[in-house]
Amino acid sequence: MIRGGFFLVVISACFSITVSSVINFKHNAEDTPVKGRTWDQAIAMAKSFVGNLTLDEKCSMTAGIGGPCAGNVLSVQRLNFNGMCFQDSPSGVGDGVLQSTAFAAGIQIAATWDRDLFYQRGAAIGKEFRGKGVHFALGPMMNIDRNARHGRNWEGFGSDPYLSGENAFGYIQGLQDQGVVGTAKHYICNEQETNRNPGFLARKNKPNPNVNVAYSANLDDKTIHEIYLWPFASSVAAGVGSFMCSYNQVNGTPACQNDRTQNQLLKGELEYHGNIMSDWGATKSGVPSALGGLDIEMPGGDGLMGSSLVQAVKSGAITETRIDDMVTRVLTPYYLLEQDQSYPSLDLDRDAVGDNYKINRQVAAAGMILLKNTNNVLPFNVTKDKNYFIYGSGGQSDDGLGSGGWNGHPGALYQGGGSGFVDPTYGIDPLTSLMEKTREAHLQIRYVLSHTDYGAINGSFNMRGFNTAKCLVFITAFSSEGYDRSDLQPSENANQLVQTVASHCTNTVVIVNSVSQLNLEAWIDLPNVVGVIWTGMPGTEYGPALVDILFGDYNPGGKLVFTLAKNDADFGTDISPTMTSTYSEGVFLDYRHFDQNSITPRYYFGYGLSYTTFSFSKLDISKINNKNNPIALQYWARRTRSYSNFGTAGLYEPVYGVTFTVTNTGKVAGSEVPQLYLSFPAEAQEPPKVLRGFERVYLGAGESKQVTLVLTQKDISYWNTANQKWTVASGDYTVRISTSANNADVKLQSSFHE
Ligand code: NOJ
Repeated sequence: MIRGGFFLVVISACFSITVSSVINFKHNAEDTPVKGRTWDQAIAMAKSFVGNLTLDEKCSMTAGIGGPCAGNVLSVQRLNFNGMCFQDSPSGVGDGVLQSTAFAAGIQIAATWDRDLFYQRGAAIGKEFRGKGVHFALGPMMNIDRNARHGRNWEGFGSDPYLSGENAFGYIQGLQDQGVVGTAKHYICNEQETNRNPGFLARKNKPNPNVNVAYSANLDDKTIHEIYLWPFASSVAAGVGSFMCSYNQVNGTPACQNDRTQNQLLKGELEYHGNIMSDWGATKSGVPSALGGLDIEMPGGDGLMGSSLVQAVKSGAITETRIDDMVTRVLTPYYLLEQDQSYPSLDLDRDAVGDNYKINRQVAAAGMILLKNTNNVLPFNVTKDKNYFIYGSGGQSDDGLGSGGWNGHPGALYQGGGSGFVDPTYGIDPLTSLMEKTREAHLQIRYVLSHTDYGAINGSFNMRGFNTAKCLVFITAFSSEGYDRSDLQPSENANQLVQTVASHCTNTVVIVNSVSQLNLEAWIDLPNVVGVIWTGMPGTEYGPALVDILFGDYNPGGKLVFTLAKNDADFGTDISPTMTSTYSEGVFLDYRHFDQNSITPRYYFGYGLSYTTFSFSKLDISKINNKNNPIALQYWARRTRSYSNFGTAGLYEPVYGVTFTVTNTGKVAGSEVPQLYLSFPAEAQEPPKVLRGFERVYLGAGESKQVTLVLTQKDISYWNTANQKWTVASGDYTVRISTSANNADVKLQSSFHE
């Protein structure tokens, strides 16, 4: 199935675009129910609706009410408005509903580095939300992987702001093309769970009103603009309808009543016209929050906003104009995406999965990363490699009830835990898929999944056929919303398991099923560990996707979306155990920090191997001087929707086209991800290099393709704290086309002058 899909992609690319400018998201106009309203049109419609509401009704719409969804907005039957439903999660319709697809998680789609898949996964998720009649999806989640131990890294898109922003952009367009409002969360600097909301009863999703203060993320103006705000800005540009403010404080003020982040940065500087809803229980006050930019409190019911604002209007504590603005913002996305016209009725358990298992399987495979492949042990050759020994509880689902929820447990993991988790309708674990492969290809499989039964494990080493066998060791690392990981080690003492197997099996391949960063040092250099596949959080098609990779039916091409350090301390950032988390590293995060401090990691950000090889040639950088430049035209054609919001500052105008050729020099079809790293003139005070472009390029054996990456005005600018503007630095910029953040992987290099 996947193999067919893979060839299809390659063939259509060969025929349709011999010289392809793979700049951005493909968009199939027939496949969207949204015909296209602009923000101006939607705002006018929302205003006119608000004009017919009483003060009581208006105030009541500034907080959620009880109802079937995670969040519910008041209906006004006399105006034929049936209310709105807000539902988790970023990776499918969640909160325990039936009949929805548990998609490969955010961290997995990011690892594909494939813009088309970003879009297609978003569209598939959108179809399910729409199919169930949900109005707002509570995603995407784009908090930066600043802290490797953060329990929610699996929901997000990794450690780089540009990569996260492009993910958010593709997801939002996919989702909103289906008429479902996206919610960019958690705004902003929610990079840890520890002390995010002391006293919050996470499992019950209820705030404890007696405990009011969360930790404060403290950071400077340059850092917030260049790192943490970046993906949220990309979301605004994509046209996202909703934002969710976070539990934490930012520079000493709760995020949900933070005038600086909400009014000045988001609604002012980014010209955002949609609403801000609070995270569940993140509202710490009524009027100060409303004045600080919060438009709707979720889940409501605690008397802080909603009808209690009526009295505040009457007393003059808040103006009715601001209440009108709040409700207009709440309703604008509903009109923007035409939810007033024949939107499906709400039925959370309605079967809307369609054939989404196909895209889910594709994303799962595309996001798996080949980290080590000594002497090309992979892919296995079914005519020669007949015997397999399987170890580790991660090879099989632990129970039939799901694989995550709030608590970790043994077994194959499809997603992490918390509100991001989607109850799977099924899950195909690796062992099940390996059994099918065994039957089909006449292999032989023996397995011991226990991590403690060393009698059985050691016994397996004496079994017939072991000497020539391939050994697969499945290890996992789980995390969840609500708490952070205690360390970066795998569950259940799995390092000992890998070491034991590798001390007997000369062909040990480790399968790492992990939420985010993991420390591999206990075994990565062992000579018998000849292969490592990072399977991430692959969703319910885990088994089929992995088996396709193991046996060469899918050629891996995923790339790391964070650095894997040799020592945990090398990251230079970690969860704060106190009520203050100071982002003292500034813009020197992840690979930017490793570069700056000349620290060699185990595996670089952007790294991942393939079963084939590639060469790069003919780098050309051209300045884009006018709007009719073909590169600019194609860029805008692919990125623009009626609901886009690129702002008025021209920051997203393409200014350079960076063109080069990639050739598959091997014998099998495969893909590579050329990554554009930019080095700024000294004036910008930037890290040694920053990611500013990428494209996953699929090539048949021997095939070449021309690729054009676009640099926008914003991409070549730094945040100038003095004049409060994105500013182009004067001097030479170096452009490197590389296959990871390792300078040894740079394939082409040139420069331009500003
Ligand atoms: C709290 C989580 O932080 C957020 O991501 C989620 O959308 C809400 N709960 C609603 O479940």
